[in-house]
Amino acid sequence: MSKTIVAPSVLSADFGNLQRDIELLNSSEAEWIHIDVMDGVFVPNISFGIPVMKTVGKHSTKFNDVHLMIVQPEKYVQQFRDAGAHLITVHYEAVVHLDSAIHLIKSTGAKVGVALNPATPVSVLKDVIQLLDLVLIMSVNPGFGGQKFIPYATRKVAEAKALILGSGSSAKIEVDGGVSIQNAKELVDAGADVLVAGNAVFGSANPLQMIIEIKNASTK
Ligand code: DX5
Ligand code: ZN
Repeated sequence: MSKTIVAPSVLSADFGNLQRDIELLNSSEAEWIHIDVMDGVFVPNISFGIPVMKTVGKHSTKFNDVHLMIVQPEKYVQQFRDAGAHLITVHYEAVVHLDSAIHLIKSTGAKVGVALNPATPVSVLKDVIQLLDLVLIMSVNPGFGGQKFIPYATRKVAEAKALILGSGSSAKIEVDGGVSIQNAKELVDAGADVLVAGNAVFGSANPLQMIIEIKNASTK
C-alpha cells in the first residue's frame, strides 16, 4: 500500500520566518505543501495572497497545493499558477460555473481540485469527477487553522472514494482541518490519499518528526 501524502499547511507557519519554515518543509518527509488563501469574503478570515504565494513558490522544492478559499477564484488562477502552484483547488460553494473554472485551471497546466465544505454533499461532484485530480473534503468549516475535526467528514471521504471508484476517475482525496495522529488512520482507511496538517505540524515541538508520525499513524 502506498504511503499517505502529508501536506503541511503554511497557514500555521511563522510568517516572519517564512523562508526558514519552507526550507524546513523542504527537508521533511512531506511531499506536498498546502497553501491556504482566504479573502475575508468566502471565509471569515484573511490569510494572504499572491505576494506570499510567490515567496512560497520561490523557496519550495515540494508540490505546491494551493487551496483557494476566495470568491471569483477564476480571476486569480493564472497568477497563482505563475507564482508556482502545481495544483489549484477551488470551492464548489464559491464558483458559479464550476465546469468552466475546472477547464480554466487545466488550461494553465496546473492540476485541478474541488473542495467541499462540511455541509456540502459529495454527490454534487458526480458529473465532474472524471475531470478532477483532487477532491478536498473539508473536515472543519474553512477559515481558521487549529479547529476541531468534524467526525462525519470520515463518512464523506468514504463516499468520495466510492464515487471515484465507480466513475473510473483517478482523483486523489485530500482531507483538511483538524487532522492529527488521532484521526489519520480512520481517514486513510476510508480512502484519503493526502492529509493536510497545520496546527499538528507547526504546533509540535518537532515538526519534522510529527510529519513522520502522521504518515506512520495513517497506515498502522
Ligand atoms: C482551514 C484551512 C486548513 C487549515 C488546517 O480553513 O483550509 O488548511 O489550515 O489547519 P489545521 O490542521 O490546523 O486544522
Ligand atoms: Zn486548506
